[in-house]
Amino acid sequence: MEIFIKEKRYRVPFKSVTLLKALYHIKSYQDQSLTFESNCRSGVCGACAVRINGREALACSTKIKSGDKIEPLKYHKVLKDLKVERVEKDRLKNSTAWLKEYREVEVTPKDVELTERQSDCILCSSCYSACPVLEVNPNFIGPFALTKAYRYILDTRENSIKSTIDNIQSNGIWDCTLCGECSAVCPQNIDPKMDILKLRGEASKFGYLDPNFMNLSFNSYNI
Ligand code: SF4
Ligand code: SF4
Ligand code: FES
Repeated sequence: MEIFIKEKRYRVPFKSVTLLKALYHIKSYQDQSLTFESNCRSGVCGACAVRINGREALACSTKIKSGDKIEPLKYHKVLKDLKVERVEKDRLKNSTAWLKEYREVEVTPKDVELTERQSDCILCSSCYSACPVLEVNPNFIGPFALTKAYRYILDTRENSIKSTIDNIQSNGIWDCTLCGECSAVCPQNIDPKMDILKLRGEASKFGYLDPNFMNLSFNSYNI
């Protein structure tokens, strides 16, 4: 089969193969300069996320077919070929997704279950690349960082939920269009869209309202 990496055509002598295996084969036998990222090779580290035919996927756990077009993640600076500059740390910093005011409580298995799904995030940035808001607002905190913020809001050891809620108002939960693209591409079956909706519910408990709704004019037409 043949695949295209950033418009360049490569032949891959396998019938059924993951993209990552194909990339290593190309690098070994056809193009030593080809640059991509990988680490665990088993869907755990998130390093190998790319776009296949415009859809985000992990190279190590996605099989390719002839004619597939491979590109780097969107909204990241491309360092070379498929390797991008990772932005996860900055995004997490913006969402302040960590414990702020620790209180000593007994953490039950049920409490752990509450945050289990969000804790599974492997920071692959697939959701970030799929989010259309980043196209128009590069400062949008983005799906995985908001999901992580929700994870710490659910954490029973957190004594200061409000400060997290305060920090995700600007370029945060109200800027999301709830399109669901982030949830559709997540390899860990995390649902950032739903987490953002729940964060909106939490924010309303602290008196926050959707600023878009607040800006609507309800004046009646003059006849
Ligand atoms: S649901 Fe919100 S965060 Fe997720 S991709 Fe759509 S706009 Fe972005
Ligand atoms: S939420 Fe899912 S898609 Fe987004 S960074 Fe985490 S694992 Fe990747
Ligand atoms: S190499 Fe780690 S997730 Fe693919």
